[in-house]
Amino acid sequence: MKLLAFGASTSSSSINRTFANYAANSVEGAEVTDLDLNTFDLPIYSEDEDGANGIPHAAHRFKELIEAHDGLVISMAEHNGSYTAAFKNLYDWTSRIDQKVWADKPMLLLATSPGGRGGQTVLEAAAATFPRMGADLLGTFSLPSFQDYFSEEEGITDPALAQEFAAQLNLFAKPLSQAA
Ligand SMILES: Cc1cc2nc3c(=O)[nH]c(=O)nc-3n(C[C@H](O)[C@H](O)[C@H](O)COP(=O)(O)O)c2cc1C
Repeated sequence: MKLLAFGASTSSSSINRTFANYAANSVEGAEVTDLDLNTFDLPIYSEDEDGANGIPHAAHRFKELIEAHDGLVISMAEHNGSYTAAFKNLYDWTSRIDQKVWADKPMLLLATSPGGRGGQTVLEAAAATFPRMGADLLGTFSLPSFQDYFSEEEGITDPALAQEFAAQLNLFAKPLSQAA
């Protein structure tokens, strides 16, 4: 089963990219593509830019990557209570190709941040709208205080959070493995 994993961030040290990849690699039998949003070079979306030069190749490449995978694991970085500008720009461009950006793919939607709310605000915004944009949203989870509750070696170190994560991961992984 092929999973596409990315953090909705262009930080070279993105904790959300780390977390998305950790989650995707926790799915048994998954072949994970670790996507770096820095590889998408796009002008800032505007209808004028769209009209003058059309949809950039990078947005088509993003759409093709989504379509080529069986499931999506996305971890949302939160900037001022919302999407990072880089993710929103890629998302807006891709929505101009097809409103079903997420191509009806099963999705596990995550968020983490260094703070105690763990990106819950952006996670809620994404969870409320991604299904309208073609996401088959199967699970959501926010990890607060990433630096306190995550380690590369052990994963989620807080037992209650680890249990909640495992339950959401299972909601995503079970139907995928049954379909495989
Ligand atoms: C401009 C800016 C705004 C931020 N706003 C928030 C915020 O609203 N909520 C939050 O939890 N963290 C916020 N942060 C901290 C980010 O959660 C933190 O930088 C995190 O590492 C971002 O995820 P990433 O490492 O995957 O890019 C903000 C950081 C920046 C640079």
